[in-house]
Formats: sequence, C-alpha cells, structure tokens
Amino acid sequence: MKIVFAKPAMPQQGVLIVGVLEGRKKLATAQLIDAKTKGALKKLFDVARFEGRTDQVASLMVPPGLKLARVIAIGLGKASDIDEKRLEAFGAKAATEALASGEAEAALAVDAIPGCKLGEAAMAARMALGASLKSWRFDRYFTTEKADDKPKLKTFTLLGLDVAAARKAFLPLNAVAEGVRLTRELQSEPANIIHPESMAARARELIRLGVKVEILGEAQMKRLGMNALLGVGQGSARESKLVVMRWTGSRNKQAAPIAIVGKGVTFDSGGISIKPAGGMEEMKWDMSGAAVVYGLMKALAGRKAKVNVVGVAGLVENMPSGTAQRPGDVVKSMSGQTIEVINTDAEGRLVLADALWYCQNRFKPTAMIDLATLTGAILVALGSEYAGLFSNDDKLCERLASAGESVGEPLWRLPMGEAYDKMIKSDIADMKNIGDGKAGSITAAQFLKRFVNNVPWAHLDIAGTAWAKKDLATVPKGAAAFGVRLLDRFLQDNYER
Ligand code: BES
Ligand code: MN
Ligand code: ZN
Repeated sequence: MKIVFAKPAMPQQGVLIVGVLEGRKKLATAQLIDAKTKGALKKLFDVARFEGRTDQVASLMVPPGLKLARVIAIGLGKASDIDEKRLEAFGAKAATEALASGEAEAALAVDAIPGCKLGEAAMAARMALGASLKSWRFDRYFTTEKADDKPKLKTFTLLGLDVAAARKAFLPLNAVAEGVRLTRELQSEPANIIHPESMAARARELIRLGVKVEILGEAQMKRLGMNALLGVGQGSARESKLVVMRWTGSRNKQAAPIAIVGKGVTFDSGGISIKPAGGMEEMKWDMSGAAVVYGLMKALAGRKAKVNVVGVAGLVENMPSGTAQRPGDVVKSMSGQTIEVINTDAEGRLVLADALWYCQNRFKPTAMIDLATLTGAILVALGSEYAGLFSNDDKLCERLASAGESVGEPLWRLPMGEAYDKMIKSDIADMKNIGDGKAGSITAAQFLKRFVNNVPWAHLDIAGTAWAKKDLATVPKGAAAFGVRLLDRFLQDNYER
C-alpha cells in the first residue's frame, strides 16, 4: 500500500473515507457528499445509528450520483479530544477499513476540524503515519494464500489543500515508521532465520544511512572479559555477537551520546533450566529490546536527527546442550563482579550486565537506557498496558514517561532500593542471578543496576508490551516495536535542538 498526498477532488473510483465528529457533526467533505447525494449520508447515519463516536463506522455502497464504489464514514469522537494520537488512530482505522473494502484505491479526506490546534498538513501527516503503521503485515511465509485473501489496496491518498506541506511533515514521521517496520520484521522472523549471526549481519543495512556499525564476535568479547554474556550463548551452535551502532547527528560531533542498550536473546529456551513447551515459540521475540535499538537507529538516521546516539545490542541464543551453562555455575562479568547462575532462564540480565558495563565505559554516555523482555513478572504487575520503568534518575523518568504518553507507549515506574538488592545476595559469589521469586521484575532491575555506575540510567522491561496479543490503535496484532517511537520522541523532545 502506497501512501500519497493530493489536492482535494472527488475521487472517481474506489473508496472515500470521511471523518465525522461526535453528535454527527459532519466535516466539509461529508457535507459535500450529502449535498451531492441528496442527503444519503444523513439517511445512512439514521439507519446505522451512527453518531460519530470514536472509531464508529458506517459505509455507504455505490453512493447515488457519485462514481465511487463506496463512502465510509468514521467517527472522530469529540473535537476537544483530538490530538496527534487520536489522528493517528483515525488514520489507522481508515486504513483498516480501506484494506477490508477490497478496493484498490482509497482516499481519506483531511478536513479542518473546528477548534483543533493542528494545521491541516500536520493532521494529514499524522493520519498517514497511523495508516502506515497499522497496514504493516508480515506475510513472507504465506506461499499458498489465495489472491482473494491478499490485501488489494494499492494506494491510500490523503486529500488536503497544502500537499507540499503535508509531504514535508510526513517525511520524518515516515522515517520513524520505517524504523518501526524494521523492528517488527526482526521480531517476527522465526529463530531459525534471525539468530545472533544473521541479526548482527542485518545491522550492516544501516551503514548506507550513515550509521557506523561494529560487530564484536566471541573472541573479542572473551578478550574484554564478557563472560556473563558469553555464558548465555555457550550452549548455542551460533556465535554470540555484540553490535554497536552509532549515529552522530549532533552539530557537535564530540558531544557525549545517549546510549540505548537492547537485550537480544534471539531464542530463549531457558537453557538447562528449560522452559515448558507450551508457548515456548514466543521466545523468538526475546530479542525485541535489540530490535528496538535497530529500529531506533534506522529512524534517527532516516530523519537525520540532530543528536548523538550509540546503540548496543547483545545478541545470544539461550540453548541447552552439552556445552551449555549449568545452574550453579559462577561467571566473572566484564565489571569484575562474579555471578552465581542459579537459573539459566534468567539470562537477559547476564547479557545486559556486560553490554551495559561495556557501553558506559567505552562511550561515557550522558544517559543510558536499556530495553529488555526481561521478566514474566512484569506481566503480572502491569499486564500489557504499560512497560515497567526502573531508574536511578527522576528527571530521566519524567522525560521517558512523558514521551511514552505522547506516542501511546506508556511507562509505569516501579520502586528500587536496598531491601530488594539484598534479595540477590549469593553464598558463593558477589550476586546470584535470581531472587526468591517475589518482586521478580524489581530484583532483575537491581541486578542490572549493579552494572551501572554514575550515569543517569533507566531500564524498560518490555516483556508485556513487545508483542501485541490483539490489535492496538496503530499496531496490528503481533510485533509491536514498543520503544522505537517512545525513544525517538524522547530524543527529539529533550536532546535535539
Ligand atoms: N525472556 C524471559 C521473560 C519473558 C517472559 C519475556 C514472558 C516475554 C514474555 C526471561 O528471560 C525469563 O525467562 N525470565 C524468567 C526469570 C526467572 C527465571 C527469574 C521469568 O520471568 O520467568
Ligand atoms: Mn529466560
Ligand atoms: Zn529471556
């Protein structure tokens, strides 16, 4: 589906989508259609009991007096509630309806909304972003899908007066959408396709966008003393990798970067502490944190963000085998601290321990944020509505939570403290890798904190939000890329000038 912008004109084919405010307040295009069809929309709204409430839909087939196949009215809700997020959701809903219509052409009328602060071009761009994000589909492995079941929609046109301004406003948003798509694709690929070696190789695609990419293999990591990360991958036939990506977009090329670190467990079987069979296939997306780092770097480079960012992805496969790490093993991390591995399924923190340590010491970032599908316990606490936020810095928390709120990727902060830290005391090493089963997401965060020095740091536990179990406003069921838009917005709001 191609997204294009054009001047308002009555389309001669396909479907036309119009917005209607709550209380059946028709915007300009809907009024025009009523005029041309002798009040067909009004009649439709009566019959369909359509009031214009958020996401309400009513569709008019073969509208009299028009050449179109159909007109679809979608509720915008109350004018006073309309903001960027709402417009994205509206664009997404429009794309969903257009795809379901079976038509090849769809046009969405971008009418001015009374009282809306956003200009028409900005509105068009937001709707386009929603449509683009929602229409993504991972269909690479369907080989016998019938033509009838494939989406037929070829073009999705946003009709608005200032075409040039709308196109311009969409450029940076489209770059973010490209980043989201990369993340979703990496998340969706099965673990026989995306493993540490192939995922590391995929980072090279970003080089042409101006991202500097370095890939460390096991020999290099061994020399650096990254035994916590290496221990997780030692049961796998695939070589563990650490990918470092750098985007230097700030005017001051020397300025210290913001660092983003991602957990990239390309498959988490649990290792010797093996997981139950039911649902284990989900652990292909245990690399979502790392995938977010990839997508974010793509977004930043794509929109030439004026900020310096370093992204680090720790890529390992957690497998049971004759060479796998055993429960009870003690490993020495790059920081020098020793870890007793009580449970090989608490592997993400072992990967991040070395990735975080390496990142802060090599790059001296002004802030460091990690993303990880770290604990099942975060689902118990927050479900899939919020990702968990843990931090040593209130200001950083505020900035992250506010960015998350703006883009619909909300965060909820959980406490940390000494009492929790005590729970990971080991009898034979500096720490153990699990607590006693209570407050599992917090003890995991406490573990990470031991590998962070004096840098403002935040940890996002995205185990509950990385994968959408159902359709969301701008996310089709499946890989959600949760974090890409949030971090893009966080960087834009606080560090770009
Ligand atoms: N990758 C899992 C966490 C997870 C669970 C992600 C559900 C996505 C959905 C993580 O490595 C893990 O296995 N955590 C264990 C920790 C436990 C052994 C202390 C868990 O949450 O059960
Ligand atoms: Mn695990
Ligand atoms: Zn895991």
